[in-house]
Amino acid sequence: AGEWHGGECLIAVDQGTTSTRAIAHDLAGRQIAVAQLEHDQILPRPGWVQQSAAQIWGNTRAVLITVMERLAERGRPRPLAVGITDQRETTVLWDPTTGVPVHDAIVWQDTRTQPFVDALADRVGVDALRRTTGLPLHPYFSATKIAWLLEHVDGAADAARAGRLLAGTMDTWVLWNLTGGARGRRTVHATDVTNASRTLLFDITRLDWDDRALDLFGVPRALLPAVHPSVHAYGRVDARAAGLPGVLDGVPVTGVIGDQQSAALGQGATRPGDAKNTYGTGSFLLVNTGDRPVFGRSAAGDDGPDAGAPAGGLLTTIAFRQEGSPAAYALEGSIPVTGSLVQWLRDGLGLIDHAADVEALARTVPDAAGVTIVPAFSGLYAPWWRPDARGVITGLTRYVTRGHLARAALEAIAHQCADVIEASGLEIAELRVDGGASRNDLLMQIQADLLGVPVQRLDTAETTALGAACAAGIGAGVWRDVDETRRLTVLGDRFEPAIDDVARRAARDRWRDAVPRSLGLA
Ligand code: G3P
Repeated sequence: AGEWHGGECLIAVDQGTTSTRAIAHDLAGRQIAVAQLEHDQILPRPGWVQQSAAQIWGNTRAVLITVMERLAERGRPRPLAVGITDQRETTVLWDPTTGVPVHDAIVWQDTRTQPFVDALADRVGVDALRRTTGLPLHPYFSATKIAWLLEHVDGAADAARAGRLLAGTMDTWVLWNLTGGARGRRTVHATDVTNASRTLLFDITRLDWDDRALDLFGVPRALLPAVHPSVHAYGRVDARAAGLPGVLDGVPVTGVIGDQQSAALGQGATRPGDAKNTYGTGSFLLVNTGDRPVFGRSAAGDDGPDAGAPAGGLLTTIAFRQEGSPAAYALEGSIPVTGSLVQWLRDGLGLIDHAADVEALARTVPDAAGVTIVPAFSGLYAPWWRPDARGVITGLTRYVTRGHLARAALEAIAHQCADVIEASGLEIAELRVDGGASRNDLLMQIQADLLGVPVQRLDTAETTALGAACAAGIGAGVWRDVDETRRLTVLGDRFEPAIDDVARRAARDRWRDAVPRSLGLA
């Protein structure tokens, strides 16, 4: 979008797992300036993943400064509002009088609290909080990360009880700093319902912190942010206290939303039955279920003692909420290995030089010659939730070539996404897709074939940022609601299923035969 010559714009801050970006949008939802900075991944021990929240805030400030400079070169920017979207679950604790974190943030991928989760699950059952929070007990979510910090950081538990400590996910951290931090007079400590719904501490029906969960994890309420709708008048940028350009001073923050929910919004997948998938390192697949939470079934065929709340299955999560409207819910399947399987073909096996080459290699063969890859490198997540699984390749014969392995890898990505849709038990009319691997036409065709529904690619690769801009724009009165922002979404190519039911069932059966072979290997 080269035509922007100054004027009204919306600024999205996307605080992701690997980088932080500031993206300015015009009021047609087009990107007019972008700045991005990566931060360090701190890996002190196997399974531990930390990030410096101080570095992340420094990067946030730097990308905002750069983006405002880029806009100023091209015209006179008038930022109407700021929207914040973020990697979810990642947790930081800090001292509000200094603004200094008491420890690195613990990242969503971190598994250090698995022993704590196992012990708690033995005592109360893995689904003890599922009906209230929508989630199983698992290290992925914020609750055990907060509990770990309170237990292991000197003085943290006392400071928390005395109200001298604040906790938050990265949206909360960025918002607190943007609105003035330790030096501000109207600094805001808040989060939105979508981020709160990933903490394992939030009652997703009553829309409030859950006392039983707080008690189980030993988290004092005083530590936690206020929870508001995703579209809400959160506060205003305090440019002087935050060290930001004057043009941002007083600009309202009117949207806060977790990144996967933001992508659904940016994709226009906001109506009941709408499904979106983002293909990154892993994949996050969300199906909108409307204004009532739906609790997932297990695809493993094990419906557990309470058929509505199995140990496996999908996460029930809040998709969105606008001030004055009911919350919208989604079922979510998180799949840790999709794009990273292609990286493994490149780095682990040396089959390809560049990730994008996988498509051409897979096209050298008509099928996978009976080979199935189950990429359970770090166990299986949704809908199986088996930490004891490890990767397997089945069906090898002397006939198999690199091409067949490449094709089997693409099929594995598509099968895992199909498992999640099947586990949701919901009929979907199409799957909307974005993210790096969504550029792979063959993968998209295989995905449509295995799902039996069309796959609709988005034209913009940046739906996450667009979603945050939409939330902020609704809050600023640019648009009325998500029905109006749907028209900002630009659709790309569409892939129709091209195999019949018999072939689809045969392919799915082969996959389902292979999955159990990956179990019990760890
Ligand atoms: O739940 C974690 C997810 O929100 C992270 O997304 O894109 O930052 O890796 P991303």
